[in-house]
This record gives sequence, structure tokens and C-alpha cells, in this order.
Amino acid sequence: MPQLIVTTREGEERTLEADAGLSVMEVIRDGGIDELLALCGGCCSCATCHVHIDPAFVDKLPAMSEDESDLLDSSDHRDATSRLSCQVMMSDALDGLRVRIAEED
Ligand code: FES
Repeated sequence: MPQLIVTTREGEERTLEADAGLSVMEVIRDGGIDELLALCGGCCSCATCHVHIDPAFVDKLPAMSEDESDLLDSSDHRDATSRLSCQVMMSDALDGLRVRIAEED
């Protein structure tokens, strides 16, 4: 089972077991980290699931959709590593993926 390593806003690092096929957002939420609001439940309409991806993994992720990019534009904290975690699906290829929960907007 792939592992997801999450850094919280307080800087705490947590390693979570991630079922392939779940989104990064779902793995974080199911792992009991409640600072990722994910208000829309994963339908790409809120941007409260914003995370920063470890640069080593950025190129391994599928390209972001225009909708995801538009939503990320609403964040003051967008940078080249930003993704909406509900739009990134875990897979064996992403084993060891590291993400940091973005600053609150
Ligand atoms: S949970 Fe709303 S955009 Fe990801």
C-alpha cells in the first residue's frame, strides 16, 4: 500500500497508509488530520484542500485541469508546487509522496 507523508501547518510530520484510488485529500481526512477543510467534499469547487507537493514529485502527478488552476488562483499562497489534494489520486507510483498542508487563506 502506498504511503503518504503529510506535514501539518504546525510542522508535524505524519505518515499515512494510502489506499490506491483514494485522493490525497481523502487519505489526509481519513488519517484524522482535520485542518484540511475540504469543504466541497472533493468536487473541485472550494480550494480548501490546497497542499504543496514535494518538488521531487511534482512532475509525477497528472497535469492539473483548468478548473483546478482557476480555483488555486483564489489562494494567496499558490506557488509552483500547489495542487488541490482532492484532484490527486494515490497510486503505487506515488508511494512516499510528500505534501505540506498549505497556509490558511
Ligand atoms: S475539497 Fe473542495 S476543491 Fe478539493
